[in-house]
Amino acid sequence: MSTMVVPDKSNPDSKKVQVENMFDSIAPKYDVLNHTLSLNIDKIWRRKVARIVSKTKPDTVLDVATGTCDLAIVTARKAHPQSVCGIDLSEEMLNVGRQKVQKASLSDIITVQKGDAENLPFGDNTFDAITVAFGVRNFENLEAGLREMLRVLKPGGSCVVLEFTMPTAFPVKQLYNFYFRHILPLIGRLVSSHKSAYTYLPESVKAFPQRADFVRIMEQCGYSNARFRSLSLGIAAIYVANK
Ligand SMILES: C[S@@+](CC[C@H](N)C(=O)[O-])C[C@H]1O[C@@H](n2cnc3c(N)ncnc32)[C@H](O)[C@@H]1O
Repeated sequence: MSTMVVPDKSNPDSKKVQVENMFDSIAPKYDVLNHTLSLNIDKIWRRKVARIVSKTKPDTVLDVATGTCDLAIVTARKAHPQSVCGIDLSEEMLNVGRQKVQKASLSDIITVQKGDAENLPFGDNTFDAITVAFGVRNFENLEAGLREMLRVLKPGGSCVVLEFTMPTAFPVKQLYNFYFRHILPLIGRLVSSHKSAYTYLPESVKAFPQRADFVRIMEQCGYSNARFRSLSLGIAAIYVANK
C-alpha cells in the first residue's frame, strides 16, 4: 500500500472528496499554473505519452483523471483513435476540458464524463489503451484504481501512466527540492488562491511510489510487462504496462 497524503490534513472529508473539491476550486487556473510552473515541459511529456499510445494503433482510448483534457486532446491528434473517453471526478475541470475539446474541433472523437477511476462505469475489456497523466497519485486507493483500469482494458491493451518522480542525482535533486518545496507552493497559492493545493502537490509526489516501486505495484495489480522510462533528469516518469 502507498502512504495516503490528503490535500488538507485537518479536513475530516475522505481523500476523494477533498481531491474533487480541490480540483473544482483550482480548475480555472489549473492550465496556466501547470504550464507556467513546469515551463511547458508538461506538454512535451504528454506528447511522449501520446506517441507511445499511437504505436499501438488503438481504436478506443480511455483517459483516466482527464482533468482539462490536455492528454485526451494530444492523444486524439497523434494516435488518431476513433474515440477518446475522458473521465474525471471534478466537474469543473471537465467543464474547462469540454470548452477546449470544442475549440479543438474534436467533439466527434473526445467525450468526457464525470466518474471515479476506482469504480469505472464501463464493461470488462472495453478499451484498446488507457492513459493517466498526473492522476494516479491522487487516487484514494491506488491499487483499486489500477485494478479497475486493468478490468476495462482489452487483453493485449496498453496502460500508459505519466507521473512526477523525485530526482535523485546531485545537484538536480537539491535544486528541484528547493523549487518544489518553496517556489512552486508560493506561486501556486498566489495564483490559485487555494491554501493547500500546491503544498499537497510536492507532499503527494514525495510520498508516492516511484519508478521500480510503482512498476512492482502495477504487476501486483495484475499488469504484465510493466516498465518505466525517466523523463527530464528524473522529475517525471512514464510507466507502460499491458493486460
Ligand atoms: C493533476 S490533475 C491531472 C489532469 C490531467 N490528466 C492533466 O494531465 O493535466 C489530476 C486529476 O485527477 C482527477 N482525479 C483524482 N482522483 C480521481 C479518481 N479517483 N477518479 C477520477 N479522477 C480523479 C482530479 O479530479 C484531477 O482532475
